[in-house]
Amino acid sequence: MSETSIRFGSNAGQSVTRRDGIAKVTGAATFAADNHPEGLLHAVYVPATIARGRVIRLDTGAAKAHPGVVEVFTPENRPALAGDPDAKPFLFAFRTEVLQSAEIRYANQPIALVVAETVEAATEAARLVVPHYEALPPRLGLDGDAPYKPESGNFGRPAETVFGDVAAGHAAARHAVDLTYETPAQYHNAMETHAIVATWDGDQLALDVPSQAIVMSRGAYGYYFGIPAENVTIRSPYLGGGFGSKAVINGPALLAILAARALRRPVKLMLRREQMFGPVGHRGATRQRLRIGTDDDGRMTALDHESLAVTSTFDDFIEGAADASLGLYATEALRSTQYAVRADIGTPGPMRAPGIASGSAALECALDEMAEAAGLDPLEFRLRNYADAEPGTGRPYSSKALRECYRRGAERFGWANRPRAPRQMTDDRGLLVGWGMGTALFHAPMFAAEARATLRPDGTGLVETAAADMGQGAWTALAQIAADGLGLPLEKIEFRAGSSDLPDGGIAGGSGHTATAGGALHAAGCDAVRRLGEIAVADPASPLFGANAGVVARDGRLFARDDDSRSESYVEIIARAGGAAVQGTGSAARPPEAAERHAMYSHGAVFAEVKIDPALFQIRVTRLVGAFAAGRIINPRLATSQLMGGMIWGLSFALHEEARHDRRTGRIVNADFAGYHIPVNADVAGLDVITVHEDDPHVNPLGIKGVGEIGITGTVGAIGNAIWHATGTRVRRFPIRIADLL
Ligand code: MOS
Repeated sequence: MSETSIRFGSNAGQSVTRRDGIAKVTGAATFAADNHPEGLLHAVYVPATIARGRVIRLDTGAAKAHPGVVEVFTPENRPALAGDPDAKPFLFAFRTEVLQSAEIRYANQPIALVVAETVEAATEAARLVVPHYEALPPRLGLDGDAPYKPESGNFGRPAETVFGDVAAGHAAARHAVDLTYETPAQYHNAMETHAIVATWDGDQLALDVPSQAIVMSRGAYGYYFGIPAENVTIRSPYLGGGFGSKAVINGPALLAILAARALRRPVKLMLRREQMFGPVGHRGATRQRLRIGTDDDGRMTALDHESLAVTSTFDDFIEGAADASLGLYATEALRSTQYAVRADIGTPGPMRAPGIASGSAALECALDEMAEAAGLDPLEFRLRNYADAEPGTGRPYSSKALRECYRRGAERFGWANRPRAPRQMTDDRGLLVGWGMGTALFHAPMFAAEARATLRPDGTGLVETAAADMGQGAWTALAQIAADGLGLPLEKIEFRAGSSDLPDGGIAGGSGHTATAGGALHAAGCDAVRRLGEIAVADPASPLFGANAGVVARDGRLFARDDDSRSESYVEIIARAGGAAVQGTGSAARPPEAAERHAMYSHGAVFAEVKIDPALFQIRVTRLVGAFAAGRIINPRLATSQLMGGMIWGLSFALHEEARHDRRTGRIVNADFAGYHIPVNADVAGLDVITVHEDDPHVNPLGIKGVGEIGITGTVGAIGNAIWHATGTRVRRFPIRIADLL
């Protein structure tokens, strides 16, 4: 009946500002911890101050006697859980600590939970809990324990991928490098720390909790508490950042829910900043070895990427750094291998550009060294090894405008004027100047989502899906897509999301949320319009009666596809049909055949300029130019912000972020923003983002890839390479510090 091809109207492609921006900056937006239901209690957990051993005695008398304290939970009196926190019965199930034993597996692990009438009383009483430990020396970092080869990487990805004859590739090489890099542990430090307000009503559980997987996590909570998923309501209207850690259920949240059930009152728990360092995931440290060889012309004969990642003693999240070498460069032979080492730390988890961020840092620096060894400019080297089909599988790319990214980024940056040798450039103040570049790459996955769209009698539209907005403006971009699906201007759309009462919006992760939830919203809008079209075409009183070539939706009107002079407004059609709203539904997911036919990635090229004081070696990044191709860009302003945010994280990775352990206790010594450095405005200058349009009919019907994570990749290497170009010193450990250049 009406068109089935993808319709974009006047909304997608516009740089609309965030629809929830005013609510955010005026404080009207209610984040999880802003909820204060009647009778609310406050919970604060007591963190372990050793990393390995057991609690042999816990003195809770003073805490219990503190005014306002209602209960102190320990492994001895903690109520039973229906589900085993050491089991992994569902996707994204991480083993977690819910006071199930006296054993200490990492510093900052919860060892008791204090619940009180006020947050002050709970905080003070938590300090009064005195643990007595039997401590063992912690195993930490890359040298923590014997490395092992895991059965698989994260999310079922293979731990090893090999194609071609790697040994032959090494043997045939005329130029070769063998390099080892280290990347540090980084902790998700969303502005909003993890928070939850748990309210029980019989066996109905309502949670105000920031979530990247709003509908899916109902089942997880239901598992732990022995209730059906339908009994769990999750309200997550606003997130102050997620970065992957809010896709995972954590132990402190489960403790708050347990306490609420036991005490028959709502309970709120919000992590203190230092408690973000342990129980809620992190990016695991890695050591990566790259052995690369080329022929006389600089064409790769072998690319051999081995990664060793630090994981916990009780779960298996393996930072898949060697994945970064899959899918990008042409080479005769490739091997990508992941090893792991156990340490007395909290389990790592997905953190913005998981695997690829750390892997790209090493790969792009190694490529720079390889280019130099082969006597080639780093960009020329990458062009010589440009893959026109996915290495190993031979699958065509669904789209790959990487050449265009290289060209436009290089042009904007002025790369052609770069002298090849290091230490050639200074500025007018005598600072050493260096230029470096790196390729950016990230997968373009899709998950599954559903949505509902309603055309109301007043000509407005309602669109609904349980999508999450981590703060980046996802809801705005999604509303734009939804408006186009319904053929309405954005201001006529009411957008409902962020609650598990709505159709499943899928996981906000993997840079796939806009494509997935957007696809479902668009389909739902088209379905509603199709139903409206059926009504009009069958109605003898409509100008569209008998319009058998179908109808087209535009600006709240339906037009006959073959005759633009025949049209009628949504309001008129619905009114004559009796005034009932017209509803459509839609879903989105990628058919497995589509994923088999094409390799799907976003690509980019990042160029960095650093200036370094020749006496003090203070490092400043003075310019960062990133050109990215990520399919159709729905909102250029928001996409540019996302890409900038990623590049800033890349800068942070290159120069600032690192969690450091005390070797004796295993505690993280810099678990706050005084010691755990992230860039401030003064660290970020000269950011320039270019988006390169791609028409991609394969990735999904809307042609959307993702922009959330790719900005980190490429950037770290570009900065590392620029530092070499300025100084002549190769630093192979991140973050790069002044001391590394002395
Ligand atoms: Mo992201 S680490 O896929 O939330």
